[in-house]
Amino acid sequence: MHHFERRDGVLHAEAISLERLAAAVGTPFYCYSEATLRRHMRVFKAAFADLDPLVAYSVKANSNLAVLAIMREEGAGADVVSGGELYRALEAGIAGSKIVFSGVGKTKEEMAAALDSGVFQFNVESENELDALNEVALSRSAVAPIAFRVNPDVSAGGHEKISTGKAEDKFGVAWTRARDLYARAATMKGVAIKGVDVHIGSQIAELAPFERAFERVADLVRALRADGHAIERLDLGGGLGIPYGEPAGGAGDPPHPDDYAGLILRIAAPLDIRLIFEPGRMIVGNAGVLVSRVLYVKEGEAKKFLIVDAAMNDLIRPALYDAYHGVKPVALREGDSEPYDIVGPICETGDRFARARPLPPMKAGDLVAFMSAGAYGAAQSSQYNSRPLVPEVLVNGERFAIIRRRPAFSEMTAAERNPEWKSA
Ligand SMILES: Cc1ncc(COP(=O)(O)O)c(C=O)c1O
Repeated sequence: MHHFERRDGVLHAEAISLERLAAAVGTPFYCYSEATLRRHMRVFKAAFADLDPLVAYSVKANSNLAVLAIMREEGAGADVVSGGELYRALEAGIAGSKIVFSGVGKTKEEMAAALDSGVFQFNVESENELDALNEVALSRSAVAPIAFRVNPDVSAGGHEKISTGKAEDKFGVAWTRARDLYARAATMKGVAIKGVDVHIGSQIAELAPFERAFERVADLVRALRADGHAIERLDLGGGLGIPYGEPAGGAGDPPHPDDYAGLILRIAAPLDIRLIFEPGRMIVGNAGVLVSRVLYVKEGEAKKFLIVDAAMNDLIRPALYDAYHGVKPVALREGDSEPYDIVGPICETGDRFARARPLPPMKAGDLVAFMSAGAYGAAQSSQYNSRPLVPEVLVNGERFAIIRRRPAFSEMTAAERNPEWKSA
């Protein structure tokens, strides 16, 4: 459930009309609903209330500092995958003791920064990384708390670019090598084994892949304990999908968090273990929209194009993963629907948000909202075609705040220099 609804025919974020925000901020812009962000985190936590897990919000989904501060207020920690994300989480006031450091390619500098912050856990993804972490920790007279991210060789379904748990994927340590690696880590003075970690992908629309992966991992926990390791934590990653509102025939609705929780309780409760989760999309996806203005309506030879002022640099999911986003006219329009290809101004054929999308007759100047754009939207945006990053706006009831402003062109070029030999 989210708080983007029509009032008198106009799409609102909580109590503010998107038309009013567009007039105040200019288009395109991202708009987030604070009530929705909080609600999703509460629903997720409530599903596991009896277990008191660490819910480490996955910063990559939406890393705006204001969003992170809301997560902190809701009691969440953070799952980070870079020094930059670690910096953001700490800046937002999230304690190192609630931060999980994931990712296949942590640098030694990033490891050092995480150790200095008192990080809760490193999710180690290779033997080389284990050696590097041990070295960094010893050089700082520290001990790094670790889990190995194991690759359970399970297909998560959905788009191959966001599936991470198959043997051919780059993620995690090979299933067959896991026990040897734990045995090796146990001999190292710079690391302390705490748990096991798994994350099999994102936008997972059914329970079956989770079930297969988690059952395998539970078996591994039992085997490792039998080997003499004190496995006290189980990090089950993120990945629970959200409804993107696809019409019949498309991806169906993903399971409710309560059903996901039921499955996990069945598998994990007998282990008597502290659970960790890294949800991202499930928290922020439906808490945000991208608002854009129609620049032109173009009658092509074969189809009708709606050319909007947002582009693939602002929201790359359709171009990158063929992802579906609902598109709604901000003001209700009369008339029979007709199919539009919705495209941006970027010089790439792939700069297309939707094909043959039925919409009522639209005209230049109309506003449209790309729904479910709160996750992997602003976070994946770029300045391609030298388009400044778009503003992000947070709505709380009748109030709004610009939580990232639109930079000036001069800010885009501020870090660039001609080489000395050119300036003479
Ligand atoms: C290690 C890890 N944890 C958590 C997440 C968050 O996933 P999601 O946004 O699907 O919940 C991701 C994203 O792919 C990830 O790579």
